[in-house]
Amino acid sequence: EKTVHRLSLIDVQGVPLKSQIVNNLDSILQFCPDPSDLLIATYPKAGTTWVQEIVDLLLNNGDAEACKRAPIINRNPFLDSCLSPPLPSGLDLLKEMKPPRVIKTHMPIQLVPKGFWDNKCKVIYVARNAKDNVVSYFYFDQMNLTHPEPGSWDGYIQKFMKGQLSWGSWYDHVKGYWRERKERNILYLLYEDMKENPGREIKKIRRYLGVSVSDDVIERIVQLTSFKTMKDNPMANYSFIPKLVFDQSVSLFMRKGEVGDWVNHFTPAQSQMFDEDYAKQMKDVDIQFRFRI
Ligand code: A3P
Repeated sequence: EKTVHRLSLIDVQGVPLKSQIVNNLDSILQFCPDPSDLLIATYPKAGTTWVQEIVDLLLNNGDAEACKRAPIINRNPFLDSCLSPPLPSGLDLLKEMKPPRVIKTHMPIQLVPKGFWDNKCKVIYVARNAKDNVVSYFYFDQMNLTHPEPGSWDGYIQKFMKGQLSWGSWYDHVKGYWRERKERNILYLLYEDMKENPGREIKKIRRYLGVSVSDDVIERIVQLTSFKTMKDNPMANYSFIPKLVFDQSVSLFMRKGEVGDWVNHFTPAQSQMFDEDYAKQMKDVDIQFRFRI
């Protein structure tokens, strides 16, 4: 069996990306979607998989069996595929699929292939409050053996604030899509809203996609996409990724799924320092993230 190794990050227009992505950057940026394709964009660990599962169920009228057909990476190819061989590249998977396709990306808005905007594709963006996002990313970087070593928690917070983690600055990422949301017709969702009232948020997605799905089916989708159900669903919980890529004995992909877990990780001093920096970095934008619900 091949071994994977932790990849290094390379700066692309101020955004640190894994070497493997940089090696394929031209083909990623030249990817030409069909106008019927849908893009799900997030900063890593904001709730990507959750929204992917919701969208897939909406497009299949809540038919869970249809959604269990294949692991989530095969149903919704990852455009900027972070996964290593023996896993297939997202671009290769996309070539084999017929539109309409649901495509996942972690690229900041300026690195999304132009074709998505030219073709007026629908785009769903999901954002999560910075503190829970960095906690989730810290655990993920420990178990994702293709990402650089996370190092200490204290150092990790610093890297997050400076935008030195894979896919760059959380602040630039969430702001970039926010500023363009009206102009480019992006549905901008918040993880905290989804936790607070998943049915309400799933109905927003239903309206945006323009699918006719009954309220009863929406209720079923709420159940099928609960944290517990997805955690136990082998086609959604990433257990299909070999242990040499995702070592879930270190930390589960479906780790906790809560709002406010950051209080269990930030010391009061770290929290204060983070808040001060946050106020500076977010002063030019009016997104209201909730750190507790
Ligand atoms: P935690 O590490 O805080 O548990 P992504 O899919 O973008 O990688 O995000 C993963 C995060 O979303 C993890 O957060 C994971 O547990 C959480 N998550 C996944 N499915 C979820 C669900 N159905 N409900 C709530 N949180 C979910």
